Amino acid sequence: MKQNLTIDGDRLWRSLMELARIGATAKGGVCRLALTDLDREARDLFKRWCKDAGCTIRVDPVGNIFARRPGRNDDLPPVITGSHLDSQPTGGKFDGAYGVMAGLEVLRSLNDQEIQTEAPIEVVAWTNEEGSRFSPAMVGSGVYAGVFTLDDALKKTDIDGKAMGDELKRIGYAGTDDLSKREVGAYFEAHIEQGPILEAEKKTIGVVTAAQGQRWFEITVTGQEAHAGPTPMPRRRDALVGAARMIDAVNQIGHRFAPLACATVGFVQVSPNSRNTIPGRVFFTVDFRHPVDATLSAMNDALKDACRGIAAAAKVEVEIKDFWYFAPTPFDDACVAAVRDTASRLGYPHRDIVSGAGHDAVYMARVAPTAMIFVPCRDGISHNEIEDARPEDLAAGCNVLLHAVLERARPA
Ligand code: HGY
Ligand code: MN
Ligand code: MN
Repeated sequence: MKQNLTIDGDRLWRSLMELARIGATAKGGVCRLALTDLDREARDLFKRWCKDAGCTIRVDPVGNIFARRPGRNDDLPPVITGSHLDSQPTGGKFDGAYGVMAGLEVLRSLNDQEIQTEAPIEVVAWTNEEGSRFSPAMVGSGVYAGVFTLDDALKKTDIDGKAMGDELKRIGYAGTDDLSKREVGAYFEAHIEQGPILEAEKKTIGVVTAAQGQRWFEITVTGQEAHAGPTPMPRRRDALVGAARMIDAVNQIGHRFAPLACATVGFVQVSPNSRNTIPGRVFFTVDFRHPVDATLSAMNDALKDACRGIAAAAKVEVEIKDFWYFAPTPFDDACVAAVRDTASRLGYPHRDIVSGAGHDAVYMARVAPTAMIFVPCRDGISHNEIEDARPEDLAAGCNVLLHAVLERARPA
């Protein structure tokens, strides 16, 4: 009976669509930035649904929400699954939300079939996975895994100077349950691939074996503000010209280390941002990714060399801050095998894949046996309001999650 156990794909889809109404945008996506009132609304809905499913709820000091379904032997380390509810500013309905709703659907399905497990199961919604409002990304899971201190996390501020700690209090999610010092049986995260591979190869399930490493930088270019009219070109120290050449260099580094390197500048601030004043200061961010750590280091060196040369030629100063780094992260062999064997047993076309995106699973892999389950998304597009996925693929991924979690939590 357990082998044929399935989740309710229609209920999963309905939950996803109801959640997507919180922060819904005109183009069909969501804008639900971390610790905003919309994030609170999504958190409250998730909590209510988990309570309806018989869970007890605990919230830790950085706002991570843990919904717990007791096991017959409740002292055993929990099997945890989940993802995040916060989104990018022009995010989609499925990034993060799918993993949280899939975890909830697993609990609902176990309830329907009156299946008790030996070990407890928890569904988690991590705080500030996106790293858009508060940087870097994966802060909630990073505090849980001991990568960031709670104090540092609570001090992080958004572009308006609002601190995470104050925002957590404001929305009522500054919890008191520190759950990070316990053993975890396993962690599984279901997520859309956010890239084109599974769809192109007509694979339903991505067996995620690892996640590529990332390096984030903050770069400040300083020149001299001057009048756009009377200042002759040779006398200019134009911070935006310097920054523009550096931004082009970032893109060239991405291509130089092809085919696996990724290089992105996503955030730029120009000062004073006036049409007829030569910019004196530019701040911008760099996001480098690669599955091989040595190559990620080579990209780092190439960036610093390029920026120094460009700054000298443009007669501007450049300051490069190493902002965030995590190495390429392999997932747990046994958990990965559980995902792969389940996909095979359930007859889903599948392939091993390395995650191009960062996920809370990357930090959970430091404290628990961890694996991820990917499903395709339309045209591989994500971090975009048109992000889309097929109900049948989402259900398939959730079925794999159900059986992988069951394997580790063991039916009583
Ligand atoms: O940036 C990422 O890979 C993730 O979406 N936070
Ligand atoms: Mn995500
Ligand atoms: Mn994302």
